[in-house]
Amino acid sequence: MTAVKNTLELVALGPVIPVIVIQRLADAVPLAQALVDGGVRVLEVTMRTPVALAAIEAIARAVPGAVVGAGTIRSAADARAAKDAGSAFAVSPGYTEAVGAACRAASLPLLPGVATASEVMAAQAGGIHFLKFFPATAAGGIPMLKALAGPFPDVVFCPTGGITADTAAQFLALPNVKVCGGSWLTPQDAQRLSAHVTVQNKVTAQAARSLLEQLTEGFEPYDVRARGLALWRYLGGPWEPLGLSVFQD
Ligand code: 3PG
Repeated sequence: MTAVKNTLELVALGPVIPVIVIQRLADAVPLAQALVDGGVRVLEVTMRTPVALAAIEAIARAVPGAVVGAGTIRSAADARAAKDAGSAFAVSPGYTEAVGAACRAASLPLLPGVATASEVMAAQAGGIHFLKFFPATAAGGIPMLKALAGPFPDVVFCPTGGITADTAAQFLALPNVKVCGGSWLTPQDAQRLSAHVTVQNKVTAQAARSLLEQLTEGFEPYDVRARGLALWRYLGGPWEPLGLSVFQD
């Protein structure tokens, strides 16, 4: 288990936080390991399935390179359960003082969701200045983030919700955005194939490398290999897009 003291430490680990829904506990460790092997270390496992806590526990125990947190934290009880399972951080769709207080009491760094100026102010009053902008696309996307930069120059955002491999770069280009969240890296159908998605070993086609480099341009110190999963999504799903063998056995 890798611990963090503050969610801002997550920013230094890479520009993407995959939002992961684990349906089968057996998928948790292979999927997390594939992401870590590809350079994506910060993982949000959502508390939306019966196996979520067990999945967090398994990843925290078996994937030392992962910084695994719990997503969809909606109550103080969720926060405590997430901490007990070994979560390094918590992500919530919104901010409440109850969740904020529970996370503080548990020493669990919280990345809470906000969508309006009032919600930013409430989270800041709770001492939190790194905020998830959620649901990013539906709540105004890039124009809204630009508008929030004026009154809140001290706030850093992690936009999440509706972001894709195509649009992530546009969000990441904003000065007040340091990382993007989203489920596009770990779509549900890909999880069945997680054993075949060990990106580091399998992205070998030169043309695929070129595409990965384009996708990651300007994202230093992000590891180019980390975009392997995104590439699969970016290219529309087929395992041999454009006639390339992107993931080789
Ligand atoms: C979520 O909590 O589901 C996230 O916001 C992910 O949204 P996305 O599926 O649009 O990336």
